[in-house]
Amino acid sequence: MSNPKLAEFIKGLPKAELHVHIEGTLEPELLFELAKRNHIKLKYPTVEALKEAYSFNNLQDFLDIYYEGANVLQTEQDFYDLTWAYLQKAKAQGIVHAEIFFDPQTHTARGIDFATVINGICRALQDGEKQLGVTSKLIMCFLRHLVELSAFRTLDDALPFKEQIAGVGLDSSERGNPPSKFANVFSKAQAEGFKLVAHAGEEGTSDYVREAIDTLKVDRIDHGNASVNDEHLLEVLNAKRIPLTICPLSNKALKVVENLECHPLKKMLHKGLLVTVNSDDPAYFGGYVNENYEAVSKALMLGQDELAQLAKNSIDGSFLTAAEKEKYLNSIEHYCASFV
Ligand code: ADE
Ligand code: ZN
Repeated sequence: MSNPKLAEFIKGLPKAELHVHIEGTLEPELLFELAKRNHIKLKYPTVEALKEAYSFNNLQDFLDIYYEGANVLQTEQDFYDLTWAYLQKAKAQGIVHAEIFFDPQTHTARGIDFATVINGICRALQDGEKQLGVTSKLIMCFLRHLVELSAFRTLDDALPFKEQIAGVGLDSSERGNPPSKFANVFSKAQAEGFKLVAHAGEEGTSDYVREAIDTLKVDRIDHGNASVNDEHLLEVLNAKRIPLTICPLSNKALKVVENLECHPLKKMLHKGLLVTVNSDDPAYFGGYVNENYEAVSKALMLGQDELAQLAKNSIDGSFLTAAEKEKYLNSIEHYCASFV
């Protein structure tokens, strides 16, 4: 980025990440290492050849390659290594708290036990808190291209691990798979005490965002870009203080926006919405959370105050308690006041 002072400000700014898929943090180098460890033959001969395949025209192009990449994850140690690599990166980027998605159906469909997946991830999250001081929560996503019955089975699989899972979400191919398809399973998840989030308005219309709010009763919307075309919906999001987890580099890579200069983030921020900046699938989209902050700062000409507001929103929009939020918000205030 062209402004080194702003890059330095972003690097040290305490922040939360609220939208990152753990499978989307699988860097090509680790992917090759795990393929070797598990004796899996890959379609691509080298890391470079794999990276060349990371060119997408839409969400489905990406999902096809992302699910294929996840096949190398086989053992508890693989899930540990994946999560630990993300947490180290997060720590280096000033992330103090991360709310991380995982896609159990991607793994259970290949015969990997739910327990293998969650035990590996959670062991790394515990080490992350102890050794790095990064707090975290886990959000289990249902794959929306599958039937609701499969989501119900996954929710049943999750119940013995309820203490380790803060919320449930909805991801994968959006168009043609509206939130209402999962109304019953979300209702059950709510009754079980899970927080609720859903990807909506990434490739889908603002109607999907409305459905996620009205039918699924979500606490947070993932992406939500399409809301910008609907003034009434923007008012609802603002009045209800529903956070939007925006992922600028993902939006650019998947052609959700033509370029970052026309990204709706700034308009939403200036309207007072609880918008946050996140990385989504950083190993595939060319950047972790700080590269996302830097990219929007440059494209939308955001200054220190606006970046600090985004960081405060990330804490406010999290599932932390009021006391935990206050502690992190104070640390942002302190950082901004002392940054020269
Ligand atoms: N799974 C991983 N990344 C995703 C995205 N950006 N949209 C929907 N599903 C996803
Ligand atoms: Zn996502």
